[in-house]
Formats: sequence, C-alpha cells, structure tokens
Amino acid sequence: MQNNHRWHVLETAEQVAQPACQHILEIARHAIAEQGKFKLVLAGGSTPEKVYHLLAQTNADWQRWYIYFGDERCLPVDHKDRNSVMAAQSFLEKVAIPASQIFTMPAELGPEQAAKSYQQTIAGALPFHLVLLGIGEDGHTASLFPGHKHPEQELVHAVYNAPKPPPERVSLSAKALSSTDRLIFLITGASKQEAVKNWRLGQDLPVAAVTAQNPGDIYIDRAAYNA
Ligand code: 6PG
Repeated sequence: MQNNHRWHVLETAEQVAQPACQHILEIARHAIAEQGKFKLVLAGGSTPEKVYHLLAQTNADWQRWYIYFGDERCLPVDHKDRNSVMAAQSFLEKVAIPASQIFTMPAELGPEQAAKSYQQTIAGALPFHLVLLGIGEDGHTASLFPGHKHPEQELVHAVYNAPKPPPERVSLSAKALSSTDRLIFLITGASKQEAVKNWRLGQDLPVAAVTAQNPGDIYIDRAAYNA
C-alpha cells in the first residue's frame, strides 16, 4: 500500500535537522493551542540526535509537552545504548519538561514485563499528536522488524531476537504508532537507500505499516533518497 507521505529531500544530513525541528515545534504549538498539551513519541537510534539537540536550543512551552518512546532496548536504565539515555542527554535534560511527563519504557525489566507495564501507560495516552520514527536498513521502524510476528491488537510488543542488537527490545506496535495525528520520519545516509527504495515501491515493510490520520512527512537526505 502506497503511503501518501510528503517527501522533503535535503542535500545533506545536517540540512535535514533544521526543517524537521521547525515542523515539530509547529505541530506542538498547534496541539497546545487546540488541546492544551503536546503528546510526542520520540524515535530511537542515532539519526534523531541532531534534531533533539536543535529542539533543546528552542523556547517551546515545555510544561505542556508529554514524552513517550517508540521503542527501547532491554539494557540497564543508564546504559549508553539506551534510546532514553540518548534522548535525555541530547534533549530532555536540557529543557523544562516536567519529569512526571516523561514516560520512559521500563525495558530494564525485560521484554514481557516492560511491554505489559508500558501498555498501561500508552492505553491512557492515545492518540498521540506526533510520532517520530527512523528506518533501518532492512525496513524496520521502532523495533518492528521484518518477519517478526506480533498480535496485531497489542499496543506494545515484547521483541526477541532482534537482528539489530540488542536482541531483546520493547516496541510500540504499528497500531499504537499509527494512533497519531502526525508522523515524521527522519532518514539520512546511503545505508538506508535500499530500504527507502523498497518502501517507495510499496513493499510490505514494517515502516510501511505505520500510517497516521494525515499524510506523514519524511525528512530525508539525498544520500538516502537516491534510490
Ligand atoms: C532503535 C531504533 C531503530 C532506529 C533505526 C535507525 O532502537 O534502534 O528505534 O528503529 O530508528 O534502526 O537507526 P539509526 O538512526 O541509528 O540509523
């Protein structure tokens, strides 16, 4: 199924971060004006880091921001490879979002327990205003990997044998990730070219299973887009 996303192709990875950051802030302002709060799902991996650094330098209405995570690696809470640690160091520790409004995934409990616990958190949060996502070289997004089967009705999946280390993870489901007003994908680097090409060809990839109320916006550099 072709997603009617909007592709914003920038020449370099550095040029991707600025418009993506501005778009996030615009969606946040709109959500806060309409509903008094902004419910944002953060992407993991390394690509979003530039955007998070830029967000940390802005003056948003942080008291009204609510932060969730799209996925987490089952590692100790302070492990350098945790998505929550990357988000904290690049963004969350630098802005005045109340700690009570930052909902990290308790992935240190292991996949099953963490998924069960976070299911409660998410059930009360849907729908989101914005979900940020990346894409892996195999077309995965969050920790939804090709060939992995999960009960479709779940909001949060326990993930085992992930092809991208660590093998144990927790992930919002396609259903939960799609329960959002807006979607922004952040994609840079030639290593993503094949996955992007297959996505555009309509292949049945995990990234293609996430579709929002509105067309998503894909911020991508030339190296990843040149499929
Ligand atoms: C993770 C991420 C994962 C990531 C992609 C892209 O925990 O690894 O959630 O889905 O977004 O693998 O990762 P990079 O941004 O590092 O290329």
